Amino acid sequence: MKTSSRLFSPFRLRGISVKNRVVMSPMCQYSSRDGFVTDWHLPHYGARAAGGAGLIMLEATAVTADGRISPSDLGIWKDDHIEGLRSVAGFIKSQGSIAGIQLAHAGRKASTAAPWDGGKPIMANAGGWQTLGPSPIAFGNYPPPAAMADHDMGLVKEAFVNGARRALAAGFEVIELHMAHGYLLHEFLSPLSNVREDRYGGSFENRIRFPLEVAEAVRGFWPERLPVFVRISATDWADGGWTGDDSVSFAAELNSAGIDLVDVSTGGLTADAKIPVAPLFQVQFAAAIKQKAKIATGAVGLITTALDAEDLLKREQCDLVFVGRQLLRDPYFPLRAAHELGCDVTWPKQYARGKF
Ligand code: FNR
Repeated sequence: MKTSSRLFSPFRLRGISVKNRVVMSPMCQYSSRDGFVTDWHLPHYGARAAGGAGLIMLEATAVTADGRISPSDLGIWKDDHIEGLRSVAGFIKSQGSIAGIQLAHAGRKASTAAPWDGGKPIMANAGGWQTLGPSPIAFGNYPPPAAMADHDMGLVKEAFVNGARRALAAGFEVIELHMAHGYLLHEFLSPLSNVREDRYGGSFENRIRFPLEVAEAVRGFWPERLPVFVRISATDWADGGWTGDDSVSFAAELNSAGIDLVDVSTGGLTADAKIPVAPLFQVQFAAAIKQKAKIATGAVGLITTALDAEDLLKREQCDLVFVGRQLLRDPYFPLRAAHELGCDVTWPKQYARGKF
């Protein structure tokens, strides 16, 4: 049986075509040493590419060593990182998927242990490092970051562009800038973490200035034929914080800066936010941004079934569906979803005899 479905229709952006609308959401693996790809990454990403996701977005990949969430984060701050990343991107492409990579700086939430080592801040005497942020305001009970000077901001902007340069050399075709979940660029956006008194703090225009400068710098470097995404937290879920309306205004600015898609998550800025987690709970923000800022959006968060994903696309709530934990549970979720929706998609030839 062959039927048409939105989930399995291609998505064209600039010069690329994603074969379907299922994106593997970026998910830190904390499995690197000194930022390098290890034996874990190829089977991990390779399985999801063979499983049929149209776009595989590699995890938050640090543009500077001190921008790592943990010492075991994936990195892209030196040219030596390119080779390992190239092997992962190459395999993803061999499966007909698009290889994307999320470029990240953890800001005041850097220097922590991997989740399975407790996830707590690592102190200076145990190998931790001084974190950076827009203002010296701590996240929860973490040590406060050092407020960034203009010079530090210039270096971080340059590091994002250099990360993009290395990503391009490694064969990635989509860059996603991580401006969500309370990491550095989100910290500039939110009035709860940014109380600067210079042109990068205070008003909305000032708070979005540095994230926008980073977006413009990366877009200016990245080839015209390839897209740049930005992931945001559409709300801090906290009084006095960043809001859904702020996100719509910011998305319109990103659109003007040539950003192609906003990937819409929420939260992560404060340790005590009350988040109403439920199936599809973040989709409303992706829908509002798509409608009001006239930019393509990705929806993410507890989207776990083919029918829900299809329905979101049909109702034009988003253009891409980012899937996280469902793809950890089941790398073949896209192949199963195609079967459920009655779409005939190509399986890896090695697995053709296993086809439904
Ligand atoms: C994440 N998430 C995440 N988000 C991000 O922007 N960059 C990242 O590197 C990570 N890392 C990460 C690791 C792990 C193990 C999980 C489970 C999640 C968030 C993720 O991309 C996604 O937004 C959420 O998991 C919600 O989507 P699901 O899982 O409900 O589909």
